[in-house]
This record gives sequence, structure tokens and C-alpha cells, in this order.
Amino acid sequence: MMTEYSLPEPGSDGLSEIERTIGARESRRSFADDPVGIEAVATLLWSVQGLTHERDGVPMRASPSAGATFPMVAFLSVAPGGCEELEAGLYRYVPDEHRLDPAIEESIHVELTAAALDQAVVRGAPVTIALAADYDRTTRQYPDHGERYVHMEAGHAAQNALLVCEARELNACPVGAFDDDELAAVLDLPADLDPLYLVPFGERPGGE
Ligand SMILES: Cc1cc2nc3c(=O)[nH]c(=O)nc-3n(C[C@H](O)[C@H](O)[C@H](O)COP(=O)(O)O)c2cc1C
Repeated sequence: MMTEYSLPEPGSDGLSEIERTIGARESRRSFADDPVGIEAVATLLWSVQGLTHERDGVPMRASPSAGATFPMVAFLSVAPGGCEELEAGLYRYVPDEHRLDPAIEESIHVELTAAALDQAVVRGAPVTIALAADYDRTTRQYPDHGERYVHMEAGHAAQNALLVCEARELNACPVGAFDDDELAAVLDLPADLDPLYLVPFGERPGGE
């Protein structure tokens, strides 16, 4: 007969680094005034959509994708002074080249904050990752479940970013509350992309 079973404490056989990071992660909504280092920005973007390995000659990415359809596109909004190496504005991450391409050549920080319902976490963040998706890439292959898969993928990608932030002692918070149309307009998204998720992040204030 099956009975209830009290589990051993997490990591009772020794916590790995990723397990410690999972245990330490929480949504943190305040930021130091300092700019974010370009190394952290690069690693965050890689963790969201960067290339890791090849399968049958096709590059795979750091977060999983249903049928390797890869609908997710990552943008980076840089507030004025948000990152010393990057001009303020919006960039599109190009996974194959691990490169940022300019998308909007002026700060969108004020408009991004407004689209995110004036949330202080977005206003205070020096940089914000914006995830958008091309649903067709996935629904073409999975007409019944594709839409759901895209949402799952946004969660995978954002969670990678949140864990990398925690591991680097940066503050970050997932943000899903925004006006869809306003955000699409602020990001100047092409018609095939819909905005899904924001991850504002920045240096951790001293004492936290
Ligand atoms: C899909 C999703 C959307 C969220 N949207 C927001 C948001 O718009 N603003 C915010 O401050 N937090 C947002 N959060 C963060 C949650 O409030 C937070 O995860 C929750 O309170 C649990 O706390 P923890 O992340 O510290 O464990 C969101 C979380 C998820 C998973």
C-alpha cells in the first residue's frame, strides 16, 4: 500500500550551485544607480536565446523550444546611462551572431515604463529585456498546442534570465502586466511579433 513519504531536505546530499541559486532567487524590484556591466548583459541575453550546441547542423539555444521552432525574440531596452558600453535605446538580440542590432536609436525608457502600467520596477531598471514571439513559427507546426507552447517558452527564457541575475547578485523581476498594444508600439514591433514578457534588471543596492 502507498503511504505518505516525508522527503529529505533539498540538497541533503549537497546543494549544487544551480540549486543554491534557485533557492536564493526572488523577485527584487529595486536597483542601485550604477550601470549594468556589458558582460552581465551579454550573459543574460545568451541565457535567454543564445546558442549552446548544434543538432543535425542546426544551432540550438540556451532555453528549450517546442520542435526547435524558436519563436522567441529578445530585445534590450537601455535607459540613459544604463550600460556604459551601450547607447540608450532599443536593441534586438541576434542569437546566431551573439550581437545586438540597433532597433530604436533613442531611449524608450519613459514610454516602456508607461506601457508597463507605470510600474516602479521598470522605471528604476537601467536595462530591461523584452521578449516577443512570432506565434506562427510554432503554431504552423503545432496547430493545437502551439500557442500554449510559445507561452511556456517565454517562461523558460525568462527563468533563465532570472537565475543568471540571481547567480550574479543582480536584481530582477519578471513583469507580465502591461498594455499589449502600447508595448508593441513602444518596441516598434513588426506585425509578426507580439510582446510577451519583460525582465527589468540591474545592480543590487548595497545592503540587500
Ligand atoms: C507571469 C508573471 C507575471 C508577473 N508580472 C509581474 C508584474 O507585472 N509586476 C511585478 O512586480 N511582478 C510580477 N511578477 C512577479 C510575481 O509577483 C512574483 O513572482 C510573486 O510575487 C512570487 O514572488 P517571487 O518571485 O519573489 O518568488 C510576475 C510573475 C509572473 C510569473
